[in-house]
Amino acid sequence: MGKVILTGDRPTGKLHLGHYVGSLRRRVELQNAGDYDKMFVFMADVQALTDNAENPEKLRQSIVNVALDWLSAGLDPEKSILFIQSYIPELAELTTYLMNLVSVSRVQRNPTVKTEIKMRNFEANIPLGFFCYPVSQAADITLFKSTTVPVGEDQEPMLELTRELVRRFNNVYGEVLVEPNIMLPENQTARRLPGTDGKEKMSKSLGNCIFLSDDKDTVWQKVRSMYTDPAHVNLNDPGHVEGNAVFTYLDAFSTDEDFKNFWPEYQNLDELKDHYRRGGLGDMKCKKFLNEVLNQFLEPMRQRRHEFEQDIPEIYNILKKGTEKARETAAQTMSEVRSAMRINYFDDQALIESQVELFRNK
Ligand code: TRP
Repeated sequence: MGKVILTGDRPTGKLHLGHYVGSLRRRVELQNAGDYDKMFVFMADVQALTDNAENPEKLRQSIVNVALDWLSAGLDPEKSILFIQSYIPELAELTTYLMNLVSVSRVQRNPTVKTEIKMRNFEANIPLGFFCYPVSQAADITLFKSTTVPVGEDQEPMLELTRELVRRFNNVYGEVLVEPNIMLPENQTARRLPGTDGKEKMSKSLGNCIFLSDDKDTVWQKVRSMYTDPAHVNLNDPGHVEGNAVFTYLDAFSTDEDFKNFWPEYQNLDELKDHYRRGGLGDMKCKKFLNEVLNQFLEPMRQRRHEFEQDIPEIYNILKKGTEKARETAAQTMSEVRSAMRINYFDDQALIESQVELFRNK
């Protein structure tokens, strides 16, 4: 069995640093390492609709933005299959069959879904489609026989459910689906990047994001006003690096190389942290360094984005071609699923013959 990598993004707006460090950066590395049979990256618009049913226009407007984020970050349609979830009807089919193999209470236990229900005030009125999205996500993953799913920590419960469903399906119907593995970012702080305001998560609804498409000035504005250590008032006060967003970002993004290039007074982040803790190091200097670190990878992305923006119809074309390719795999798996489930009535000659026999001997 070969290695199949798959991930998706909900197209509800432009991608930000949290997406980049939690998943996108890894995808590009995996893609370029070439150690896989197939790599799929898709717009999870069906999933996005489960809590945006009344606002499809938001998704419609986001498709090109997210595709530009992907392409400018380095996803390459020659190497990765980029596609749109809602154009793969086989996903809906497989979801329907998987739903029979899991209980309502099992889905209710999912901590990510629980948090989302609270955040969206769905408590009294959970849309059924939203409730079922973890099962639909299991279909996303299994339809393509994915072995490797590079995502952030919050997706762990989805992967767990998927693995359970695979075991259950294969047990009941025969070995067709493949158990996937989650691939978390190696860098601990990258698993859940806080917002620029220091809040637990970078999130569009909280307005605390740095977007991959932000220009230089915007990035600096946002970095300059970032949350640091409220107790670090005077330069000589000792500072805290824990819970200090600037240092969390440096943990996630900076390398020793960056110190050599932009701040040779320190060899590495540990030395910088020590100085900050001792006191005598101002926030603004740290922010300037962070700004350099961020711009170093954002600037080449801006340039590539600018090039891709010159031919928008080609962006749709890339997604359309990728979707056609993805459907080939989807159709193949669904035909295996139907025959394992014994619902492949039309292309099972043995079934037809046995029925002929049955009625002949009546
Ligand atoms: N739930 C993911 C998110 O919110 C998006 C997603 C949908 C996904 N289907 C997937 C991720 C399959 C990985 C694999 O970001």
